[in-house]
Amino acid sequence: MPDPREPATTHEIELTVDATTRRLTVEARETLAEALRERCDALGVRIGCGEGHCGACTVDLDGATARACTVLAVQADGAAVRTVESLAGPGEPLAPLQRAFREQHALQCGFCTAGMLMSAEELLRERPRADDDEIRAALSGNLCRCTGYQGILRAVRAARDER
Ligand code: FES
Ligand code: FES
Repeated sequence: MPDPREPATTHEIELTVDATTRRLTVEARETLAEALRERCDALGVRIGCGEGHCGACTVDLDGATARACTVLAVQADGAAVRTVESLAGPGEPLAPLQRAFREQHALQCGFCTAGMLMSAEELLRERPRADDDEIRAALSGNLCRCTGYQGILRAVRAARDER
């Protein structure tokens, strides 16, 4: 257990966040989620449980989704991170998946939404014709306390069918 009276050990790392490369000084025990929010202004990354259970902090880490609250920032040194901010292309206000979430009423408070979108985006990238069971399985690690999930399922189906 680190002594809270001792100054924190820090490390220099390099991260590419939504296509921008950043050099950061992070504390040894700082999570990637904290570093993204507090040092990179990536406020689309939500921290819910902070323990790997809810999926709110889901980001793309070197091509695969990861829970940013369970990764130390130092472990991500040299990595490319994509957050929800990267989903829409240049000049596009919303990505098709984000538009589908809005049109299908797939969010209420929105706290889970960024993580849901990142998981759904990975699914549709890898399984463009994903069926309902695959959609449910892909999103099973992302918890939503508001919507009852039906709107989310409809939204992912709609985004799939628009491709
Ligand atoms: S905040 Fe990371 S899984 Fe809940
Ligand atoms: S919309 Fe509120 S937690 Fe999902």
